[in-house]
Amino acid sequence: MNRITSFEEYKTEYKRSVESPELFWEEQAEQFVWKKKWDKVLNWDFTEPKIEWFVNGKLNITENCLDRHLPERANQIAYYWEPNNPQEKAVELTYKQLHEQVCKFANVLKNNGAKKGDRICIYMPMVPELAIALLACARIGAVHSVVFGGFSASALSGRIQDCDSKIVVTTDGAYRGAKDIPIKDVVDEALEICPAVEKVIVVQRTDTFIKMQEGRDVLWKDEMEKVNADCPAESMDAEDLLFILYTSGSTGKPKGVVHTCGGYMVYTHYTFENVFQYKDKEVYWCTADIGWITGHSYIVYAPLLAGATSVLFEGVPTYPDAGRFWQVIDKYKVNIFYTAPTAIRALEAAGEHFIKPYKLNSLRILGSVGEPINEEAWNWYNENIGKGKCPIVDTWWQTETGGMMISPLAGLTKTKPSFATLPLPGVQPMLVDDKGNEIIGNGVEGNLCIKFPWPAILRTTYGDHERCYQNYFATYPNLYFTGDGCKRDEDGYYRITGRVDDVINVSGHRIGTAEVESAINMHIDIVESAVVGYPHDIKGQGIYAYVICTNHSKDHNSLRKEILAEVTKMIGAIAKPDKIQVVSGLPKTRSGKIMRRILRKVAEGETCNLGDTSTLLDPSVVDEIKAGAL
Ligand code: WT7
Repeated sequence: MNRITSFEEYKTEYKRSVESPELFWEEQAEQFVWKKKWDKVLNWDFTEPKIEWFVNGKLNITENCLDRHLPERANQIAYYWEPNNPQEKAVELTYKQLHEQVCKFANVLKNNGAKKGDRICIYMPMVPELAIALLACARIGAVHSVVFGGFSASALSGRIQDCDSKIVVTTDGAYRGAKDIPIKDVVDEALEICPAVEKVIVVQRTDTFIKMQEGRDVLWKDEMEKVNADCPAESMDAEDLLFILYTSGSTGKPKGVVHTCGGYMVYTHYTFENVFQYKDKEVYWCTADIGWITGHSYIVYAPLLAGATSVLFEGVPTYPDAGRFWQVIDKYKVNIFYTAPTAIRALEAAGEHFIKPYKLNSLRILGSVGEPINEEAWNWYNENIGKGKCPIVDTWWQTETGGMMISPLAGLTKTKPSFATLPLPGVQPMLVDDKGNEIIGNGVEGNLCIKFPWPAILRTTYGDHERCYQNYFATYPNLYFTGDGCKRDEDGYYRITGRVDDVINVSGHRIGTAEVESAINMHIDIVESAVVGYPHDIKGQGIYAYVICTNHSKDHNSLRKEILAEVTKMIGAIAKPDKIQVVSGLPKTRSGKIMRRILRKVAEGETCNLGDTSTLLDPSVVDEIKAGAL
């Protein structure tokens, strides 16, 4: 890997990546094992959109993650698995063992009917088998669709149906902090409306009693006994699907973001090496869940492509107490630690006495991802965890970008609290005003777009290409629109200010307001609702719901409880509103559009400057909403 080693070099590499992107990325791609070389580096057209990288190249990403390393790293640890309960035995997986497990499970998938191109749904907690399952899919060319284990049966069934998965891989239960979660029961409930699912493969994690449906459900353990570890890696086209990952947008149901094999591999590896400046033999820990893109890219694929040693953590930051992260860092002598601002704020609030017992002297680099990191949290992280000597990389990116886009290179780029700083090589950001005019110069603010493809850009939204176009490429012609607002300061540094669409970022998780509203509207007494975000000390943003209830004798406390239950049922506990205000009407324009701007202001605690309300159908509802604000 020819990694950037100075800020000067970053500048020349950046320039080169913009002037000759094809040459630049071709050089990166040449470091991998390809079964057949590409004919052309890039074809692209954002008006369709059509994007192809490494055209006609053939490869298998798992050969690059695993087989390629065996001569040198067979006995190196790939994953230290740290269980939820610190008393339970940890598990180590070397590259050789991981390779063997992946090949075996790939054969299990084949025995259970999986073929290249099939979609396989994975719904599991953070156990080693989760990483193994993703890689096993990639090994045989099946497309994984991982659903975060906190989503409800209803959300799970929607995702299974959308991509027509015939196989589900899951566990009996999950340990999360002090809770035992009945994962398989959720799957059973989801599958009541997914008759197309033929096989469910169950890892036993909690050894709780589960119902096994004859002919459909099989145990991971039993299936693994029937196979050997010989599984050749399927030859994949660079543009064949690697995975689908569902994410919320401002309208409608979650979209299945599609990533493909070649470009995703090249880009995630490049960004991992350069942003973290990973050195051989270092221990790296990303605390995300594999159910999100951060886990896909920076727990599974990129660290393995780099031949790194990672920690895979099953638990939560506050169990058994708020010192758990720090205890795990000391235990494995973690050098690079990558987490989310919401965790940093929660651990800051818990108090410094949870840090005191630990040395944290192995740490070299700290990372942040998922939401804007406020200056206070940045400083706290820097002083208390990094002891003032670990560079912090605030990495901005998205499910759709596949990998990091705007970020410092650790130790090379001068950082500024709350700034993601500068675009990585290959990334060409552009700020535009609401009409789509480019905002040039520094000391400006606008909507963040990207004007040239990078290798891991999404290719489509599964089963609905038009939606991909409408969502990302239609707002500003010939640009990829991120949905984020952004400042560029006098030094040309980028600071992401947050979503400018109807998406709320709760604890680093993306929640679509439309989805929460439709869940709330399932309640029999609710005729209409409007959901907005508001600043929240720990979560970054909280969810504020305005609801219109037709049953005037309904007790509001029980109404609130029922609404929370409805949202938990339709989406999952992560989407539960923090505040629910019962109103008699919503501020609407004469054409019937809800003026969310006003609702956002009230939710933020602003009651005076609500802006122009003269276009409202009935301005009096605003007074009532202000008076009842929570
Ligand atoms: C949205 C993407 C990228 C993996 C986790 C979230 C926000 C992400 C940052 C950051 C400010 C950030 C943006 C983005 N975001 N990282 N470092 N600074 N905002 O992935 O669920 O696809 O959400 O998260 O608003 O659009 P995601």
